[in-house]
Amino acid sequence: MKVLLDMVISPNGYIAREDGSEDWLPDEGWDEFVDLAKELNNIVMGRETYTQVTNRYEEYNFDNVPCEYKLIVTRNRDFQAPDRYVVVHSPEEAIKYLQVQGVETAFLIGGGKLNSEFIKKGLVDQLQLTVNPYLIGKGRPFLAPDDFEMPLTFVESSELPGGRAKLKYIVQKDK
Ligand SMILES: NC(=O)c1ccc[n+]([C@@H]2O[C@H](COP(=O)([O-])OP(=O)(O)OC[C@H]3O[C@@H](n4cnc5c(N)ncnc54)[C@H](OP(=O)(O)O)[C@@H]3O)[C@@H](O)[C@H]2O)c1
Repeated sequence: MKVLLDMVISPNGYIAREDGSEDWLPDEGWDEFVDLAKELNNIVMGRETYTQVTNRYEEYNFDNVPCEYKLIVTRNRDFQAPDRYVVVHSPEEAIKYLQVQGVETAFLIGGGKLNSEFIKKGLVDQLQLTVNPYLIGKGRPFLAPDDFEMPLTFVESSELPGGRAKLKYIVQKDK
């Protein structure tokens, strides 16, 4: 099974303000995310992403995303799975769960702390970043700082409405 990490970032690498808000991102980014979640039939997210998005936004809510498997990753063994979500306790457990369901591509949707955990463990195969033309001076990074280096192979770039740029990479696992 492959793992695809897909994030929308500011040109300086942030995914949310420090307080977790994301209203500097355009609406169409959410629609594109929903389409991909539907196609891949799963989403894998950190507990903080679930909490922030669920508490902040009614319309842009994971409850409304039409895919079968919605995984929340947490270290907290007491965290109760919300209705129609699955709770797992490590990146490896997330992958194993989706493999058993027959999912071909795990759709890792952040946030930055969970992304780094997957990257550090060498579990990400493909990376796609949508760079949104809006700077925020401080915020939550796309990858939480940690000890890793990861060579990438550039695949393609494209321009999206609203001056956004999409960049696709493959992770060089043999390096
Ligand atoms: N722009 C975008 O594309 C985008 C995408 C997604 C999210 N976001 C934003 O990003 C922010 C959240 O990102 P974040 O970096 O603060 O948090 P996060 O990565 O979403 O979640 C961190 C939490 O995930 C769990 N976790 C992380 N590594 C784990 C591991 N190895 N094993 C088990 N559980 C693990 C822990 O949950 P516990 O504390 O419960 O143990 C940890 O506190 C939100 O504001 C969200 O809106 C933006």
